[in-house]
Amino acid sequence: MRPSSHSFLAALALAALVWSPVAAVAADTRGAAPTDPALVEKIRASNAECFSCHTPQALKTPPRPGMDLAALAKYLHDPAQFDGSNHAGMECKVCHGQGYVAFPHAAEAKKSISECGECHATKALRVETQFKDSIHAKNLEGRFTCQTCHDPHVYRVASKVGDPRRIVAQDNAMCVDCHNSDLRYGAFSAALPTKKTRPDLDALHGWLPNTRLHWSAVRCIECHTPVSPVKSLGMSHEIQSKDKAVKNCVTCHAQDSALATRLYRYASANVGSDLGFSNAQVLGSAYVVGATRNPLIDRAVIGLFGLTVLGLLGHGAVRVVMALIRRRRAS
Ligand code: HEC
Ligand code: HEC
Ligand code: HEC
Ligand code: HEC
Ligand code: HEC
Ligand code: HEC
Ligand code: HEC
Repeated sequence: MRPSSHSFLAALALAALVWSPVAAVAADTRGAAPTDPALVEKIRASNAECFSCHTPQALKTPPRPGMDLAALAKYLHDPAQFDGSNHAGMECKVCHGQGYVAFPHAAEAKKSISECGECHATKALRVETQFKDSIHAKNLEGRFTCQTCHDPHVYRVASKVGDPRRIVAQDNAMCVDCHNSDLRYGAFSAALPTKKTRPDLDALHGWLPNTRLHWSAVRCIECHTPVSPVKSLGMSHEIQSKDKAVKNCVTCHAQDSALATRLYRYASANVGSDLGFSNAQVLGSAYVVGATRNPLIDRAVIGLFGLTVLGLLGHGAVRVVMALIRRRRAS
């Protein structure tokens, strides 16, 4: 084999690894959510240990005396929220290590918290390459990590949320929690070479009519990331600079919009596609203006078109007649 075909094959193998959802599934099943009742009970009991201290209730009635309650107050969690997350069904100590099992916690415990990539190797490899090209990773290197956006105790992947409104609320909260907070934005932008004050989101997007309605109906990433070449892979993690952002209304307000293959593909997967194609949800529920076909509007549009043509014909006829009259006068 020639060297070039070697490297070609290697590239192909790498591409398959990075892009193959099958490979991602195979590598991401370390301890998939358990179904065995005995195991589920064991996990619940184990996590209840942690929750006996790490909840607002425990702060009010501490299970033991002498705890640093001011410190604990910064580390409270909601069991119900955890149970709705991707990582429900996992023991806290799987990620946190044995160092937190006893209290007081081991001094070194913090060092052994697992990184996302330890369990999601293939997915993390793909996501990481996109994330490294993002404006955040490039300009705020070192400060911005996966956890900056994903709280592993809360976050639920869009494909499991289903309802587009709730997906939008969850995913936009990741961005807005920082972009609408002087305190948090300031802590991150302090890493920039030149000082930058937080731009106001509403003012920035003033060109978008009904800005607030858009905030609740579309995700920031819909306009700020490139569309993935492979549909099934979902969103890209490459948040691009503002000059590359989508400003064209037709990207979404059209029948075959990019939204259908991004945000709404989850909905169509869950709702079941009566219409037989991916934007069933969009078309079925009249969700996005312009993505729907309303017979009345269609007729109105055809009517308007007809009137326009008539107008043009009339205008042309008048001009021809006028020209004839002028020519006759001149001769
Ligand atoms: C008896 C009460 C108690 C139990 C049980 C408990 N914790 Fe804690 N935890 C605390 C308190 C109090 C703090 C505040 C800081 C400190 O004293 O270490 C804390 C802090 C933490 C921190 C933050 C520490 C840091 O350095 O950032 C983590 C993470 C943590 N606990 C995880 C766990 C996990 C996981 C479990 C279950 C395996 C658990 N805790 C069980 C009381 C408890
Ligand atoms: C999938 C992995 C994972 C699981 C499961 C997990 N954690 Fe965490 N936890 C983390 C990571 C990562 C951090 C963030 C550390 C950081 O940002 O410095 C963290 C931080 C914490 C902190 C300190 C910071 C904070 O905001 O409170 C506490 C307390 C904590 N976890 C408690 C728990 C408890 C209780 C459970 C089980 C109900 C749990 N964790 C399950 C990964 C996990
Ligand atoms: C110790 C292993 C472990 C760590 C560390 C971990 N996860 Fe997970 N993750 C899991 C398991 C197990 C599941 C559950 C799979 C299931 O429900 O079938 C999961 C599920 C997920 C899912 C849903 C997958 C899907 O396609 O439905 C996402 C997204 C996810 N994790 C993101 C993260 C992120 C982001 C981090 C880092 C902040 C992280 N995980 C850290 C083990 C881990
Ligand atoms: C700037 C915020 C941000 C950062 C940083 C970030 N993510 Fe995400 N991530 C998102 C958003 C928004 C989604 C879309 C929600 C969805 O599809 O569930 C997402 C989706 C995901 C998903 C599920 C969808 C998929 O593509 O499989 C995984 C897994 C994931 N992120 C992992 C990571 C890892 C690993 C890192 C760190 C290398 C990371 N993310 C960093 C915002 C972020
Ligand atoms: C923890 C804070 C934080 C989070 C979370 C965050 N950002 Fe940012 N973002 C920043 C900071 C700080 C900058 C400024 C970087 C710069 O100017 O170089 C920035 C820059 C940007 C820019 C580039 C602006 C330009 O000048 O070109 C865009 C677009 C952007 N963010 C969108 C998002 C989106 C979309 C999300 C959610 C998926 C998000 N951000 C999440 C802090 C954050
Ligand atoms: C409909 C598409 C669209 C949506 C949705 C959208 N943006 Fe933008 N955004 C843009 C465009 C286009 C620009 C560039 C505006 C300009 O330069 O005039 C921009 C600019 C920005 C900037 C540039 C800041 C600077 O430094 O000038 C940030 C940050 C940003 N958006 C964040 C967000 C966040 C966070 C969300 C979600 C709440 C969001 N965007 C939703 C299209 C969008
Ligand atoms: C990223 C996708 C996207 C882009 C780009 C976008 N829109 Fe929207 N727009 C939506 C969605 C989704 C809705 C919500 C429809 C609903 O909830 O009824 C919406 C709603 C609207 C509404 C309100 C309709 C109503 O029912 O009240 C108007 C007006 C609108 N958009 C105009 C525009 C214009 C003008 C532009 C370009 C400057 C634009 N949009 C760009 C997705 C988008």
